[in-house]
Amino acid sequence: MSNESVFKQALLKDKVAYVSGGTSGINLGIAIGFAQQGAKVVVAGRNAEKAEAAAAHIRAQTGAQVLALTGDVRDYDAVDATLKTTQDTFGNIDIVVAGAAGNFPASVVNMSAKGFKTVVDIDLLGTFNVFRAAFDRLNQRGASLIAITAGQAVNPRPFQAHVCAAKAGVNMLVKCLAMEWGPAGIRVNAISPGPIEGTEGVARLAPTEAIKQQWIEQSALRRFGQPEDIANAALFLCSPLAGYITGTVLDCEGGFQLGDASADALTLVSRGG
Ligand code: NAP
Ligand code: COA
Repeated sequence: MSNESVFKQALLKDKVAYVSGGTSGINLGIAIGFAQQGAKVVVAGRNAEKAEAAAAHIRAQTGAQVLALTGDVRDYDAVDATLKTTQDTFGNIDIVVAGAAGNFPASVVNMSAKGFKTVVDIDLLGTFNVFRAAFDRLNQRGASLIAITAGQAVNPRPFQAHVCAAKAGVNMLVKCLAMEWGPAGIRVNAISPGPIEGTEGVARLAPTEAIKQQWIEQSALRRFGQPEDIANAALFLCSPLAGYITGTVLDCEGGFQLGDASADALTLVSRGG
């Protein structure tokens, strides 16, 4: 369903949204959703060409004002510089999405300490850096901060020790920030997406059609998510409808994390097996 039929037109008119990792995949989908609702949007990543292409795509699709910025989320000064440019260009910031992440499947014995640290630094330290650098540049009362976490934060998985540890930290960081920054009027939440079709994350974790099909058959809603599904969850979280919601992790994942809901599994259960 198009969000235009659910959200009032231009829900985010005059709002400024900064999306870290907004140059591809799920976060780009969120940036497009914000732009469609009238926000001025910043997309940030490491690769300048990719960021410019993403910004051009959003402008062409929505007519919104979009700025492409670059900086590694592991580098506080680089992140801080992008938030300063955002404020200098568009004014105080209303919405911040911390979505940059890295992932590769590897067992712990095939992972160096640097490999583990790389993912923790991008996902967890990167989320801290983005939110911390944004704090003094927010329209604090009414601001909405959203981290992009993953099911790995709560469900341990082999070959994902680095991501599980990093995203568990993200979930807890969100709750601590919600407590510290709530009195200033800032809400801090996370979205935990399920597998989203066509993304780098799915390409890395479900590299074959057979694995993808198995995931679909085991999921409650029998489909992968679309970037629009996550964009709609983000729009809800930064809308007044979510005005009393902070410190929460919103699962937007079609029941994927509930466990095996395949026909075989359901048959076994119904037979008491
Ligand atoms: P993606 O397309 O690979 O997007 C990653 C984004 O982060 C890109 O904009 C990338 O830009 C940026 N980035 C990566 N490392 C960075 C760094 N060190 N500094 C600054 N920017 C950096 O990923 P995706 O699959 O859509 O995933 C997006 C988010 O959703 C992640 O937080 C992921 O954990 C979460 N998630 C994804 C899925 C899924 O199905 N894909 C499921 C659950 C959760 P550059 O390439 O220019 O660095
Ligand atoms: N298995 C084991 N170790 C791996 C690995 C793999 N598949 N891929 C990378 N590493 C290790 C490297 O070997 C290196 O450690 P080492 O020097 O001790 O050998 C360490 O991770 C850092 O790798 P490097 O390529 O220098 O890091 P980077 O900062 O350039 O890139 C990554 C970060 C590795 C996370 C890269 O995949 C990336 O940029 N990902 C962003 C996109 C993404 O992951 N999207 C999906 C989001 S869900």
